[in-house]
Amino acid sequence: MKIQLIISLIIAGLVITGCSDVRRNPGRVYIPDMGYSRAYETYAARDSNIFTTDTNEAGRKIFYNNMPVAGTIARGEIEPFFLAKDAPGDTTNYVASKQITNPLGNLDAAQMKEAERLYLINCGICHGPKLDGNGPLYKDGTGPFPSAPANFVGNDKYKTMPEGQMFYSVTFGKNLMGSYASQLTRTQRWMVISYIKSKQGAAAKPAATDSSASVKPAAADSTSAKK
Ligand code: HEC
Repeated sequence: MKIQLIISLIIAGLVITGCSDVRRNPGRVYIPDMGYSRAYETYAARDSNIFTTDTNEAGRKIFYNNMPVAGTIARGEIEPFFLAKDAPGDTTNYVASKQITNPLGNLDAAQMKEAERLYLINCGICHGPKLDGNGPLYKDGTGPFPSAPANFVGNDKYKTMPEGQMFYSVTFGKNLMGSYASQLTRTQRWMVISYIKSKQGAAAKPAATDSSASVKPAAADSTSAKK
């Protein structure tokens, strides 16, 4: 009986000392991090005493670097391009990218229209609405952009360039052309490349020669690339 009284007195004592007369103060809290998350406020300046972008400090502070968790894929997005950007001067992955095939297959009319829209917004300014490498930013060299953009319909190098390699350059950039990885999703980048290839196919027809055969890598190559 006595022991029960002592235990209930201890509990009552803990409960009372746990309270606070300051109404906004929750009093003593066991493991406060679990009860009250230190939330990250969007757009607010981050308190460097609480948050860190340095993985070495991650245990002591809250690690938050605004990036999606590595390896995660956004809903509706296709699988990542598994080749990394080459180190300067190296072309290993640029060459390897030739083996990667366009995962989208043939686009239907609506998708092709959307691909055209994306091309005209993002690429036409340099590569030209006619894909001739002569967009308003270049204008035969009189425009403000100093470097000649690729002429997709007049240059065999680009007519025969595999889609995977185009994707590599659109994703990581090429010389003076920047990366489009942040402006266009992976799906959108492949769509734009399908659009370029469709226009190249149309342009190649009158000449009745070349290119379209070598556009896609041989079947053996594409299976080996999947591994
Ligand atoms: C600011 C101008 C500019 C814009 C906008 C631009 N490009 Fe380019 N692009 C260039 C230039 C310049 C080159 C030539 C790069 C070189 O080889 O020096 C090029 C080259 C390329 C190549 C050939 C890359 C290679 O490996 O040789 C592809 C493919 C390409 N662009 C696709 C695109 C696509 C798709 C878009 C739109 C998403 C786009 N570009 C937007 C300027 C631009």
